[in-house]
Amino acid sequence: MRPTKKYWKNKKILITGHTGFMGSWLCLVLKLYGCKIYGISNKEYTKPSLFKIMKIDKLIFKHFVIDINDFKKLKNIFKIIEPDIIFHLAAQPLVKYSILNPIETFKTNVIGTVNVCEASRNLKKLSKLILITTDKCYKNSNSKKIKFFNESSELGGGDPYSSSKACAEIAIHAYQNIFFKNKKVKISSARAGNIIGGGDWAKDRLVPDIYRSLHSKKFLKIRYPNATRPWQHVLDVINGYLLLAQSNYSGAWNFGPSLKKTFKVKDILLNIKRRNPKLIWKILKPKEVQESINLNLDIKKAKNILKWQPKWKIKKTLEETNKWYENFYNKKNINYLTIKQIKDFFKL
Ligand SMILES: NC(=O)c1ccc[n+]([C@@H]2O[C@H](COP(=O)([O-])OP(=O)(O)OC[C@H]3O[C@@H](n4cnc5c(N)ncnc54)[C@H](O)[C@@H]3O)[C@@H](O)[C@H]2O)c1
Repeated sequence: MRPTKKYWKNKKILITGHTGFMGSWLCLVLKLYGCKIYGISNKEYTKPSLFKIMKIDKLIFKHFVIDINDFKKLKNIFKIIEPDIIFHLAAQPLVKYSILNPIETFKTNVIGTVNVCEASRNLKKLSKLILITTDKCYKNSNSKKIKFFNESSELGGGDPYSSSKACAEIAIHAYQNIFFKNKKVKISSARAGNIIGGGDWAKDRLVPDIYRSLHSKKFLKIRYPNATRPWQHVLDVINGYLLLAQSNYSGAWNFGPSLKKTFKVKDILLNIKRRNPKLIWKILKPKEVQESINLNLDIKKAKNILKWQPKWKIKKTLEETNKWYENFYNKKNINYLTIKQIKDFFKL
């Protein structure tokens, strides 16, 4: 299923983290759906950044630069906007950075999320609060056996990022249970897997690292070639977020790829190398905390209830992502391609 234009037209949407990789794509999609968009982010941008390339500050209605840890300012801005729907994406989303900066990570991901929930209480028009966490919120025993996590699987997290998102999930549950129970506001958490697509330049993520290495002609360092991840295109995930917001459900929701065969880091590398033979990598011994080896998501709930399902299989996902970075580094019209990918995906 796809989101309906009629539902989204003229809706007032607030996105936290709108300057990031996913937030930028979400702004572009919602703009094409006719929404009035407000964004809240701190002023950190990657270099380059999709937000700047697409001049998103000129496309959206208003852009606020604040730290979500500043509750007073956050609450004030929420009151000024009075949004219909909130998507909370702002976070410190990187595992390696979280190991070096645990306090900042826990503060932003846990207290920042609590601040967003708290500032959302007593808003007059709010009908949906969609809080973005991650598939890494599940307790992963790292067994060799392929296991699919469903929404009832135990929460956990073996590093500060994963653990902070599991803590955020527990806090969200308390808000669902106590503060939003009898309100018309539906409050949900969305747990998606490894999201790929053009315009991501975050540090220590496989796909951005691959294209950075191709562009700089340096070899790529790989630590976990056999790790499996639920890779999926950013537009598939956004489709899930919009269908969730459009529905009348609360609770926790997994969004991941439909895979009969699980996909490993080395499969991604080989696929991209077929398109870019100059890609070279070295496998190094992991020196930091062990990352989860197998991470797969059970997506039956979103499929059955929201009628959501991934549209772009891994081959198409990698093809579109590759096209995006190739166009960008060859200085072709990236603005046109980005909008075309959205229009093709959503049939707009
Ligand atoms: N990219 C993925 O593969 C992936 C997978 C699962 C879940 N997620 C989740 O999706 C969300 C977006 O991820 P992304 O990849 O776009 O990250 P990103 O780093 O590209 O964007 C993060 C955004 O949050 C903002 N931000 C960070 N700290 C802030 C603070 N203290 N106050 C205000 N704004 C702040 C940044 O300015 C930026 O706009 C995150 O919650 C992340 O955990 C991402």
